[in-house]
Amino acid sequence: MKFNIALLAGDGIGPEVIDQAVKVSDAVAKKFGHEITWKPALTGAAAIDAVGEPYPDETHEICASSDAVLFGAIGHPKFDNDPSAPVRPEQGLLKMRKKLGLFANVRPTFVFPSLLDKSPLKKERIEGTDLVFFRELTSGVYFGEKGRRDDGNTAYDTNVYTKEEVTRLARKGFEAAMQRSKKLCCVDKANVMETSRLWRETVQGMEKEYPEVEVSYEFVDAVAMRLVQWPKDYDVLITENLFGDVLTDEASVISGSMGLMPSASLGTSVSLFEPIHGSYPQAAGKNIANPMATVLSAAMMFENFGLAEEGKVIRDAVNKALAEGIVTEDLAEGGKAYGTKEVGDWLASNI
Ligand code: IPM
Ligand code: MN
Repeated sequence: MKFNIALLAGDGIGPEVIDQAVKVSDAVAKKFGHEITWKPALTGAAAIDAVGEPYPDETHEICASSDAVLFGAIGHPKFDNDPSAPVRPEQGLLKMRKKLGLFANVRPTFVFPSLLDKSPLKKERIEGTDLVFFRELTSGVYFGEKGRRDDGNTAYDTNVYTKEEVTRLARKGFEAAMQRSKKLCCVDKANVMETSRLWRETVQGMEKEYPEVEVSYEFVDAVAMRLVQWPKDYDVLITENLFGDVLTDEASVISGSMGLMPSASLGTSVSLFEPIHGSYPQAAGKNIANPMATVLSAAMMFENFGLAEEGKVIRDAVNKALAEGIVTEDLAEGGKAYGTKEVGDWLASNI
């Protein structure tokens, strides 16, 4: 097959980890006879510096006309420490999600057998964990009306959801549950929030379409606790934008390192694949960042094209590297630490 893939490296460690995912994807393409044309485009602080805008129209056109987007990370400390900055890299990310219609953010959490001791959680609690979040990504409090009043002394962010937005996200969750162990948890705060009551009522209304799926409804505060206490109780979780943002960072602790978890953002046409970690500016340019999450995001990309075998080859190479200690310093624990590039080279040559 032939693919055009938009390549948005972004800021911080983004370019370094993206380079490794490109190398690995090219090795997979060569092995299976595919042809990938990479279309690099600017985003984040890098784009603000170059053209004054974190998600330029030109970048959007490249993304919208590609078969997929592979994304690194965005964010720069010079903006974090300046609340009055008129444009921020994160605005580019939100604009991109909205304009590409990426309403479902798929964030899996799984454990690697060779890394069970790296998690701060007890091995017997996490062994066998395999769950996936479907986080709503283009609505909710991230996109509702926000502002200040009373001379700036009162601030507000509005959480808004439509039934249609809930339905399309929930449908992705139900469909994933049907492919997995047929368990779905709707995470909300229906004891307090009206939006959550709409979520619950909408999902309840869909249950009859999926009679085989066992649906549970849990409050977000309880899930925050039970997720790290009994992660194996969960399979597919569906939730709104902000709850999903918080819970997926929490869930990454189960796997032992944020540098390991990939994600996919699915929409109405093009899909985007990115590591869940951020731009980690302290490590930028040092060849120490863990490229595994980005490499695994490329695996999700192949799987999303319907190429399960290609995805598996990448996952197998990552598992082998982890088992053989071909890891960056975040996982080396006193043992030999490999550079970002060396891990990427090893993965590509093992494919
Ligand atoms: C994420 C990030 C973003 C979010 C930030 C950078 C805007 O934390 O992708 O989870 O909150 O969605
Ligand atoms: Mn986040």
